[in-house]
Amino acid sequence: MRAFIHCFLLCMLLVSCNQSTQVITEETSNKEQLRPMYHFTPTSGWMNDPNGLVYNDGTYHLFYQYYPHATVWGPMHWGHATSEDMVNWEEQPIALYPDEKGLIFSGSAVVDAHNTSGFGEGNTVPLVAFFTYHNMLGEKTGASNFQTQGLAYSLDKGTTWTKFAGNPVIGNDGIRDLRDPKVFWHEPTKSWIMVLVAGNYAKLYRSKNLKEWENISDFGEGRGSQNGVWECPDLFKLPVQGTDEEKWVLLISVGGGAPNGGSGTQYFVGEFDGTTFTSEQEDHAWLDWGTDNYAGVTYNNTPDGERIFIGWMSNWQYALKTPATSWRSAMTLPRELSLKKIGSRYSLYNSPVETLNTIVSKGETNSLEIEAKEEYILDEENLNTSKITFAVPKSDFKLSLMNDEGEKLVMLLDAASELLMLDRTHSGVTSFHYEFGNKLHYAAMQDLPEELNFTIYMDHSSVEVFLNDGQYAMTDLLFPTVPFNRLVLENLSNNSLTVKDLGVHPVKMKVATLN
Ligand code: FRU
Repeated sequence: MRAFIHCFLLCMLLVSCNQSTQVITEETSNKEQLRPMYHFTPTSGWMNDPNGLVYNDGTYHLFYQYYPHATVWGPMHWGHATSEDMVNWEEQPIALYPDEKGLIFSGSAVVDAHNTSGFGEGNTVPLVAFFTYHNMLGEKTGASNFQTQGLAYSLDKGTTWTKFAGNPVIGNDGIRDLRDPKVFWHEPTKSWIMVLVAGNYAKLYRSKNLKEWENISDFGEGRGSQNGVWECPDLFKLPVQGTDEEKWVLLISVGGGAPNGGSGTQYFVGEFDGTTFTSEQEDHAWLDWGTDNYAGVTYNNTPDGERIFIGWMSNWQYALKTPATSWRSAMTLPRELSLKKIGSRYSLYNSPVETLNTIVSKGETNSLEIEAKEEYILDEENLNTSKITFAVPKSDFKLSLMNDEGEKLVMLLDAASELLMLDRTHSGVTSFHYEFGNKLHYAAMQDLPEELNFTIYMDHSSVEVFLNDGQYAMTDLLFPTVPFNRLVLENLSNNSLTVKDLGVHPVKMKVATLN
């Protein structure tokens, strides 16, 4: 991220040149076809991390890192969208603008139901948003204390926001990367907890009034992946499915060194006693093995305490270069997180939220046998915006989605080594960045059962693969030049393959009118 900020001025110069000469050619209008149909994208401008995910009074709020004036990263605002079901989103006016204290970097929002902050007036419940102030001038002059934490509050259910006059609420004694506050209510200690990242570890703070914060502990020095700066933390409790046990999960996005390159999100499972987070986990655990799910965090205050996650569907390696016209970047599908214990390991599952099924039409399903080394072909024009489902025994197979231009996306399961592979090297436009199409992506899995179910969500420029109800997920961007219209399922093993309930279910919704 730091490198992007440094090259900001140069980028801005290039962008303004591009903009002044931009003409709407056939190529640019084709690129607009790549806009996802049912994933959130801003109508125009640049978007990165989801911010301030909070549910309040029937509305899911999605704020996000936003630069409205170009399709590359720039002085950060908080964009805003709302939804009743996390499927149909309505864009709202920008919530937070940069000011003299800095740009508005990532953070979170809470419903201050008991008005602990005192911002509420009468019966009005304040929403309080926490963000990082990134002071550009401080950074340019070589200081290391240019990131501080600020807050803003809303007394009209998130429509307009007032920045707190006493900002910053947490200063900086000289930690270069100190950012991305996630705040939540901790009932046992009747206090607010904030988790913040500080370079390559996390800092925990406590407050009674959301304004005064005390650093209570630190976690993570030397732990997990340290191959990049730690960003966008989240901390929450989950029940362990099928048991009475509960565990705490710490999400940490890492700016580099993810399993398939670039940025990715790791997690730690452990305990939080109100002061300290501890984890005995030794292995590196990843929430998603694809290349394009970063900076994801979860909702505060969901109706039934569900833990719903949204990530930014891109990777800092090439995010600024992906094919785009007036807009750039989408969010992942909202996913419900759950925890299962398999053997001695706790595994974080993520699976698309149920409400998505309201836009999935029931396609035909087919159960079939594919003989050894044979293939099954299905021509289907809705592939590009579809939910593909099937179940197979744990066995070697290959699934390809193809189009009339000879482009293809390939998914392959190697059963003996428990590897799931995604190959986008020939999936369409890849040349915009060397790292985008130069290698295969792998999920190195463990503890697979003998029967596997797959749910694959395709949108115009993305694929999200969920194996076994979210035990493993792989999210990748791809940019085919024409829609995929052929599915080929190939049995790579020496025995026949029983495929159950293979279906391509079209996803349809009212598409927002683009200007
Ligand atoms: C993660 C990140 C955050 C930061 C924001 C700036 O993608 O680098 O750490 O707050 O983006 O836009």
